[in-house]
Amino acid sequence: MDLYEYQARDLFEAHGVPVLAGIVAYTPEEAKAAAEKIGGVVVVKAQVKVGGRGKAGGVKVAKTADEAFEHASNILGMDIKGHTVNKVMIAQGADIAEEFYFSVLLDRANRNYLAMCSVEGGMEIEQLAEERPEALARVAVDPLVGIDAEKAAEIVAAAGFAEELRAKVEETLQKLWTVFKEEDATLVEVNPLVKTGAGDIVALDGKVSLDDNASEVRHPAHEELEDKGAADPLEAKAKAAGLNYVKLDGEVGIIGNGAGLVMSTLDVVAYAGENHGDVKPANFLDIGGGASAEVMANGLDVILNDPQVKSVFVNVFGGITACDAVANGIVGALNTLGDAANKPLVVRLDGNNVEEGRAILAEANHPLVTLAATMDEGADKAAELANAAK
Ligand SMILES: Nc1ncnc2c1ncn2[C@@H]1O[C@H](COP(=O)(O)OP(=O)(O)O)[C@@H](O)[C@H]1O
Ligand SMILES: [Mg+2]
Repeated sequence: MDLYEYQARDLFEAHGVPVLAGIVAYTPEEAKAAAEKIGGVVVVKAQVKVGGRGKAGGVKVAKTADEAFEHASNILGMDIKGHTVNKVMIAQGADIAEEFYFSVLLDRANRNYLAMCSVEGGMEIEQLAEERPEALARVAVDPLVGIDAEKAAEIVAAAGFAEELRAKVEETLQKLWTVFKEEDATLVEVNPLVKTGAGDIVALDGKVSLDDNASEVRHPAHEELEDKGAADPLEAKAKAAGLNYVKLDGEVGIIGNGAGLVMSTLDVVAYAGENHGDVKPANFLDIGGGASAEVMANGLDVILNDPQVKSVFVNVFGGITACDAVANGIVGALNTLGDAANKPLVVRLDGNNVEEGRAILAEANHPLVTLAATMDEGADKAAELANAAK
């Protein structure tokens, strides 16, 4: 889960990272009140989960509360790279002397953590990394040690900070590490980290991604950070039903058991779709080992409610849950759903008790269900049906 800047700011503050006052506002009136509360020069900042807000006109300095009202009126509703702004943060204005860059992230390729730091912050870091990679220090961080005083000194030296700033920056990097570690983040990025005219170090813009796998069990409080309004309603529904579902762009709904099987089903359907009007998979849905009638009904319910879906391919390999149980699950699900089941279903069963499973489906003889003998055949049939219904 990616956080909004104001949420990152709040986490930073909770862990002792130096930040400036910031208040989130949903209307120009709230923005004005927030500006009055903070006092002095403020900055009105669009809250969208995308970088480059400054360049897009989503970050504006306001010298008075009335100006904050004006800027908020303009920024609220603005579209930034496809994200509509429906809240702003009113941030205390910083007197910026210098802008730096720092991030620490999960480095999957090297099975490690990586810190990146530069005394040339502010601009888009991808551009810096590409054009002048030597200006961006990259320092591996041992997960068991983290960014302690020694590691912080190494990072700060590698980035080339001026002598008199080092102690303050090192302290801030250690605090940012505690955010990363204690919140189970996969990314903590500060751009810019600034030096103010008074010589203080302040995190002015934060980006934090939290590890959802950790959040569920280790950080119940993280649930509140989730922007439920912005989530895809089908994904929200699937999540509430405990399903492993990801919405995609295509027309063929997919249900399978086991992440590997579902992944390969997506590939096979995409491939088959090339012969049928370029239809594509509409989702990823792994119903796991259980594949009971209830789980099948929940899965079908989510998929059939996706207006983009024109056909569904159920691809199940019977293992611990044998094919007859899965077949009963499908028949039960179709009964439960009744008229809500209104799109053609192609079912491919294989594995444990496959004959019994196929017999159950043949006997039920549901008008929407087509049995397929193989995965390729099923994918082809589902793609054909989706194309015909487009
Ligand atoms: N509180 C602030 N006070 C003064 N200037 C700010 C403040 N917040 C941001 N800025 C300026 O605006 C620029 C862009 O803002 P930032 O928060 O980094 O958004 P983004 O990275 O999405 O463009 C910063 O590099 C900084 O120069
Ligand atoms: Mg920034």
